Amino acid sequence: MSNILAIETSCDETSAAIVRDGREVLSNVISSQIEFHKKYGGIVPEVAARKHIEVISPVIKEALEQAGCGFKELEAVAVTYGPGLVGSLLVGLCAAKAIAWAINKPLIGVNHLEGHIYANFLPPTPYPLFPFLCLLVSGGHTMIIKVSGHGQYETLGRTRDDAAGEAFDKVARFLGLGYPGGPVIDQLAKEGNPQAVKFTRPMPDGYDFSFSGLKTAVVNHVTRYPLPVTGLPNIAASFQQAVVDILVDKAVRAAQEHGCQTVALAGGVSANSQLRTQLLMCCRREGLTAHIPPFEYCTDNAAMIACAGYYKLHNSAFGIPPSALDLAPVASLRLA
Ligand code: KG4
Ligand code: ZN
Repeated sequence: MSNILAIETSCDETSAAIVRDGREVLSNVISSQIEFHKKYGGIVPEVAARKHIEVISPVIKEALEQAGCGFKELEAVAVTYGPGLVGSLLVGLCAAKAIAWAINKPLIGVNHLEGHIYANFLPPTPYPLFPFLCLLVSGGHTMIIKVSGHGQYETLGRTRDDAAGEAFDKVARFLGLGYPGGPVIDQLAKEGNPQAVKFTRPMPDGYDFSFSGLKTAVVNHVTRYPLPVTGLPNIAASFQQAVVDILVDKAVRAAQEHGCQTVALAGGVSANSQLRTQLLMCCRREGLTAHIPPFEYCTDNAAMIACAGYYKLHNSAFGIPPSALDLAPVASLRLA
């Protein structure tokens, strides 16, 4: 029986989880700092690091208590070491190293992006079958990745400018909707008409994305026609529809052209209701399977890090030994 304690502090969520055998989530405690950053309209790195320090110990303690698990019953400690904010990553890394050293168990450094992909291996959804196509959409990344086996990734496309989540956040800020923008736009869009404004759908060659032109199109539209003319819900719904059309179109095409039967979603933007519905419908139409993790594993959480850590420790395909205790945070860590 393998109990892995995982710690995730790459951005503005302090999270600790205990996952058994890579799948059974015994606890997944998440403490969000969003309220502290809202007034600044985005994440302030210095504030984020300080807030992680305040709550890291209670969050880990609660994860162990909820799981009914003591340090002695842990097989290893997994931790996010990048990409992310260095000050934030350091807090989780220091805690994980201290625990691994004290209980004399392996430390497993996990790439945050890999964690998002492995959210697809958590219940209640069945395991996605290899090879699958992963559409990874978060606040910092938008990528199309072919996953051929455990630890085997091929990046087919990525954003050339803003990430999808960043576009949601920037448009929301421009519209005065606060931070983070994704969930607010998602809610507002439910009352709007997605066909109200036909925003441009920039489609760079291949599987790359570009969202900054779409963001500018929203700004130009609202500057030209004051908000009450079109209505905030219509703007939100039309913008969201454009983002979702672009994402679903490229992901499904990439799956078809690269021999993948399954399209898996990952990252915070995969909490978007329109994206989830449209991907499901499009995959069904094209004879593909859509693999969509539950909401709680889409945004940042430690359960997904524990799951990735389990496979790194147990699957020789990774070919990576446990990390040394001098593992350093890497702000712009890439997917190997
Ligand atoms: O994966 P995540 O929690 O953190 C990063 O690794 O970046 O993603 C956060 C991003 C934010 O940009 C947020 O606006 C977006 O995910 N997001 C959403 C929704 N919920 C969160 N975007 C669209 N619709 C949502 N429902
Ligand atoms: Zn993330």
